[in-house]
Amino acid sequence: MKFFVDTADVAEIRELADTGLLDGVTTNPSLIAKSGRDFKEVIAEICALVAGPVSAEVAARDTNGMLAEAAVLRAIASNVAIKVPLTWDGLKACRALSREGAMVNVTLCFSANQALLAAKAGASFISPFIGRLDDIGEDGMALIGDIRTIYDNYGDLKTEILAASIRSDDHVRRSALMGADVATVPPGVLRALARHPLTDRGLDAFLADWKKTGQTIT
Ligand code: G3P
Repeated sequence: MKFFVDTADVAEIRELADTGLLDGVTTNPSLIAKSGRDFKEVIAEICALVAGPVSAEVAARDTNGMLAEAAVLRAIASNVAIKVPLTWDGLKACRALSREGAMVNVTLCFSANQALLAAKAGASFISPFIGRLDDIGEDGMALIGDIRTIYDNYGDLKTEILAASIRSDDHVRRSALMGADVATVPPGVLRALARHPLTDRGLDAFLADWKKTGQTIT
């Protein structure tokens, strides 16, 4: 499973990239607004830090506008993945961009049928929003399972399932169990994945006993 981080905070991305465990980055207009920084500058900085796909979202609603914006964003770096919304205009842009060899992340997916259309349009990634489905009392995780089953039914669909709107470590665990190809995770949740109280307690006990031996390793 690949891990992307879902943020436009360059300092956070730099730290996480240093672990060698980061496979990509996703941003969206809300995260760019939160950063308070220039969109294209931020994307350029992130692309220099992370070799994997960096999703940059278009702001136009019509296909031609999306394609014009995509051309600007693709010129920033070769690892930019163009993020388009799951609308008919977005699907048409996805089809055109994927034919040109661009990576495309189709976002704001809330149904299996939407995911099927994105795959047919040649999306590199489909982003089902788990947390936002949970927010309205639906089962975000079930959607991941449905998409996995549908994509596996058809060998010609190569789109990767990118579990998005992840809010907890349990969302990550269940996405992995469901066979999502990628999870895009907020930095805080990503850091929490390595933590367990028994790990900390066990380490303290081991190191206390090690000290008693009076030995050194190096
Ligand atoms: O990757 C999409 C994600 O940023 C949306 O997350 O928490 O705003 O639903 P959230």
